[in-house]
Amino acid sequence: MPIVRNLSRAASQVLQRPGCGCQASIGSVRCISFSPRKVTSDASFHSVSFSETDHPRVLITGGLGQLGVGLAQLLRKRFGKNNVILSDIRKPPDNVFYSGPFIYSDILDYKNLREIVVNNRITWLFHYSALLSAVGEANVPLARAVNITGLHNILDIAAEHSLRLFVPSTIGAFGPTSPRNPTPDLCVQRPRTIYGVSKVHAELMGEYYHYRYGLDFRCLRYPGIISADSQPGGGTTDYAVQIFHDAMKSGKFQCNLKPDTRLPMMYIDDCLRATLEIMEAPTDSLSMRTYNISAMSFTPEELVQEVRKHIPELQVNYNMDAVRQAIADSWPMNFDDSNARKDWGWKHDYDLPELVSTMLNLLGSVGTTTRVAQVN
Ligand SMILES: NC(=O)c1ccc[n+]([C@@H]2O[C@H](COP(=O)([O-])OP(=O)(O)OC[C@H]3O[C@@H](n4cnc5c(N)ncnc54)[C@H](O)[C@@H]3O)[C@@H](O)[C@H]2O)c1
Repeated sequence: MPIVRNLSRAASQVLQRPGCGCQASIGSVRCISFSPRKVTSDASFHSVSFSETDHPRVLITGGLGQLGVGLAQLLRKRFGKNNVILSDIRKPPDNVFYSGPFIYSDILDYKNLREIVVNNRITWLFHYSALLSAVGEANVPLARAVNITGLHNILDIAAEHSLRLFVPSTIGAFGPTSPRNPTPDLCVQRPRTIYGVSKVHAELMGEYYHYRYGLDFRCLRYPGIISADSQPGGGTTDYAVQIFHDAMKSGKFQCNLKPDTRLPMMYIDDCLRATLEIMEAPTDSLSMRTYNISAMSFTPEELVQEVRKHIPELQVNYNMDAVRQAIADSWPMNFDDSNARKDWGWKHDYDLPELVSTMLNLLGSVGTTTRVAQVN
């Protein structure tokens, strides 16, 4: 049991030492004895546990949402089933529960999070827990708690345990005073939703921890993500997922955005691949820590026209939701992702025609109700 002995010796040395002995240096890649919550820790202590595995040991927070289950599938293929732990505060459906490790984790519970990271020797953390834009506007105090206080917990734990941390940002991190067509990586960011404000906060705090404490923080600004595997989670771009379910189920679709509302969108496979690629990108290829990624940009009317190529009888009416429309009108119409393409070779696979045929094939081949029921 040499590892256990080494661990306990290192731990007892740390615990006997007065003060935190923090030696974090600005710009250093590795965090040395970072102690944000005054919990003593030590670089040698971490290296004992983490040098034991070739693969990262991954934790995904908020893993039962629209994106987390697909991310877990991708990462488990790459790193092995047992090296990827999904977590959430909701009860997982059977197919998720039996597909690999799942653990309860509330990101507002700092001690519980730390225990999970330590006990499972986590080295990479994908922080997906969030309240999305429309849901966040409906409950600002909760969105503030989950999206901001929760992020603080994640940042401190990631820095304390030298984790590589991925936090997704969004087109919603921009606002009406940002350039909208196209929107570059660096420009004015004055969003007017609590969701957007919390995501700008996440970008800035992550970058601050990177430069201040050496946290390996990596962040992508996702467009609206379209997937057949789950129901949308309360975002402004939900219509672009819902249309496929409704077209297959009833042939009728009510759109809550105006027909000419142009927004950047991406098929989930591209989004998850980009996420893995930026996490695997060599540190020296990253000239920034927060990148736009883009694939396509379309309006509801353009999407309807493309769906009608497959389902000509689709009936659509527009019943604008004022909250979502105001949000959409303040968001980018096109995303400039040239830095991601240049630095780490980002390239999307799916444009609008491939997206539509893929979604209809997936939902059609399995059946809308069955497929949605499997994951919710
Ligand atoms: N889906 C998109 O189109 C999109 C676009 C841009 C960015 N993103 C970002 O990607 C991430 C994942 O998005 P999603 O669509 O899967 O979101 P989602 O709303 O579908 O899922 C979020 C998950 O977080 C969980 N959660 C809520 N409170 C929690 C808490 N206190 N502790 C732990 N978990 C909690 C929820 O139970 C839910 O399963 C989010 O950070 C989101 O901002 C998503």
